[in-house]
Amino acid sequence: MKRVLSGVQPTGDIHVGNYVGAMMHFVELQEEHECYFCIVDLHALTVPQDPVELRNKTYELAGIYLAIGLDPQKSTLFVQSQVSAHAELAWLLSCIAYYGELSRMTQFKDKSKGKENVSVGLFTYPALMAADILLYQANYVPVGNDQKQHLELTRDLAERFNNRFGETFVVPEPLIAEVGARIMSLTDPTKKMSKSDEDENGRINLLDSPDVVKKKIMRATTDSESVIRYDVENKPGLSNLLSLYSVMSGMSITDIEKKYEGSGYGTLKKDLVDVVNERLRVIQEKYYGLSREELERILREGRERAEVLAAKTLKDVKEKMGLAMF
Ligand code: TYM
Repeated sequence: MKRVLSGVQPTGDIHVGNYVGAMMHFVELQEEHECYFCIVDLHALTVPQDPVELRNKTYELAGIYLAIGLDPQKSTLFVQSQVSAHAELAWLLSCIAYYGELSRMTQFKDKSKGKENVSVGLFTYPALMAADILLYQANYVPVGNDQKQHLELTRDLAERFNNRFGETFVVPEPLIAEVGARIMSLTDPTKKMSKSDEDENGRINLLDSPDVVKKKIMRATTDSESVIRYDVENKPGLSNLLSLYSVMSGMSITDIEKKYEGSGYGTLKKDLVDVVNERLRVIQEKYYGLSREELERILREGRERAEVLAAKTLKDVKEKMGLAMF
């Protein structure tokens, strides 16, 4: 069975962009792959976090993983900081990563722009992400479009290591969906939907109530034309709603365009509200029925499974790099 790994940061509010761009695919993949999904709390620390909030968000994300349909019998769910091999391998990889290549990461440039005190962790963030993936010898990494460059770096690091020290790492392939890999903000469709956007109305959170979802979708920015047509360049707001509709309903964009031929934006938006709310209702029902004890048990078992594989890779890497082993 091919192996899959992915991760999500336990920060801000998990939104429909995270869901359709990545997490929804985790659920499909667990049927035929050996899956590892982590809560990347060490990545969260690369920007300041309130400790109480970070711990709460870790439980929240664990609950969301289960609520969207991840099955702990099929997928290993765990917290990154609980498996110390991640931090260790990240160091070893940061010693083969180049300053220049990390400096070219657009996510680093965006997140550090205009900030005076940028942590070193934010700069070496991609080496930790590479460690997450390479530790498990993952074949596939389902992610949204914004992680593409980090995946390319991970592949480069794996190949560089293999060339220098001998065949060690599987070189992973990103899995980026054709539709939904970059959901945009509802209020500013030139920006991606983001957990950290101060404008709450730009994103639909997985735990939003039906009324809030309705308000956000009905107010979403579109254009002054009233033709329902997918055209990212000229109609970015409407095209974003069409993408969301398509992934959430399973209908193709062409079929949606046909269905709404001659209708106004209001009709499309109202139906989209129903499509999204129906999906969120199922998720939320499951989410609110989970207990903290249950989450802890699942994450503890996940950690035990993850540790075995991670330790094996880390030992091999240390040996190959010439670290003393006794
Ligand atoms: P994070 O926590 O920012 O996002 C989690 C996942 O959601 C995707 N995503 C989106 N997809 C579509 N439209 C959007 N607007 C949108 N916003 C976010 C992200 O691409 C991601 O797949 N660095 C990663 C976490 C990470 C990771 C890993 C991922 C750490 N280690 C190892 C894969 C493998 C991140 O910050 O994701």
